[in-house]
This record gives sequence, structure tokens and C-alpha cells, in this order.
Amino acid sequence: MNRVIAIDGPSGAGKSTVARAIGRALGFLHVDSGALYRIVTWQALRYGVDCGDETAVSALVERLKVTWRVCDGGVVCASDGEEPGEAIRQPEINAHVSPVSKVPAVRARVTAWLREMRQLGHLVVEGRDIGSVVFPDTPARFYLDADPEERARRRHLEEIGKGISQSRDAVLASLLKRDRIDSTRVNAPLRVADGACVIDSTAIPVEEVLRIMRDRLPPEWLPSLTPQP
Ligand code: DC
Repeated sequence: MNRVIAIDGPSGAGKSTVARAIGRALGFLHVDSGALYRIVTWQALRYGVDCGDETAVSALVERLKVTWRVCDGGVVCASDGEEPGEAIRQPEINAHVSPVSKVPAVRARVTAWLREMRQLGHLVVEGRDIGSVVFPDTPARFYLDADPEERARRRHLEEIGKGISQSRDAVLASLLKRDRIDSTRVNAPLRVADGACVIDSTAIPVEEVLRIMRDRLPPEWLPSLTPQP
């Protein structure tokens, strides 16, 4: 069975940066589970489906065909043959993704897609319910958190880099709203998985977060050091 490192936590806690770095270091494929919820939301908006209408969203996700390919150490997803790229990072998707990801049929399908991806190789998967629901069997469960102001600062900088323009206050408001919906939903809410290692990244550099995580991984997962001649 391929190995999984689960990294959960709220938006902007630094999960993607850390997951990519760990994936590169250990040769695990990076999977961004939020991208799958974003793809469903993107298609709902394109097809004119009301994101607050659970029946309509369930019907959409049942007929959606999602595929994926490995690219540059990560898994890139497409739906109905189309890769969305940055389209799924737009503020309009941010505003609708939490209601969509509350829908049980959406959670069931995304969970099934993620479990199927395990056949690709060892994975480092970031999300909200990876250690608690999707891969509760993995010994490597982390919960990455940071102060909301700091998370908004990081997200805002990221958005500027992608050419998305909204104020930091707007980013903070959107992030807090999603946190509230994500952590209070009945089905697979954002929470610390049992036994997960909690890391607050507000005031520590990414290298330190990586060091803490590395220390918590099963030693047999770490690349062995080749003795120097
Ligand atoms: O990580 P992100 O901001 O791209 O995630 C977008 C949304 O997807 C987030 O608001 C909640 C949802 N999500 C989820 O419910 N479960 C996951 N495992 C990942 C994301």
C-alpha cells in the first residue's frame, strides 16, 4: 500500500508550500484536495447550478468526469477533459466553494477520487479532512495552523502574484467565512485528526515547520543517507 502524508488545516496556513517541499524531498506526489472541491464549484458556476442547492449540486457531481495526470511532482486534475488552471483560484470560486464542499455527495466523490489517486504512488495530501476521514489509516497526520491575520497576509501576497486583485481585508473576510463553514459543517468538518501533530506556523519559518514534520515521520519513510567514500 502506498504511503500518505496528511496535512490538514485552514486556508493560508502554508499547507501547499510545506506539502510541495516534503513531496520533493521524499519523492511523494503532491495532491491538493481543495483543487477537487474547487473544480466541482467551477463546473457548477459554468453550468449555472445554484451552489446552495444541494440536490442540483449532487446531480452535477454525479455526472462530472474527473481525471488526473502526474506532472512535475504533483497531480493535476481535469474535469470533462479540461484543466482549469488559475480559474479555480478566483474570488468567485472562493465565495462558493465552502457551500459546495458541504454537500455529502460531493464529499463522497472527492474522497473516492483521492483514495483512487493512492494507486499513483506515495502521496502528500493537503486538505481539511485528510487525516480524519480520507486516509485515517496513515501514521503521518499533521494539522498546520496560523493566526488568521497572518494567513490573510500570505493569501493576499499569493493572489497578487497571480494577478488577482482584492484588498487584504477582503481576503481576510473571505477566509474567515470559509473557515467558519468548513469547521462547523456536519460532514467531515475541519478538525484536528486524532493523534495528529499540530504545528502553528505563525511565527516560524517554513524550514522549521519542515524540520518538525520530518522528525514526526516514520524513520523508514526518510531517504537513507549514503555513506561518503
Ligand atoms: O485548500 P483550499 O482553500 O483550496 O480549499 C477550498 C475549499 O475546499 C475549502 O474552503 C474547503 C474545501 N475543502 C474541504 O472541504 N476538504 C478538503 N479536504 C479540502 C478542501
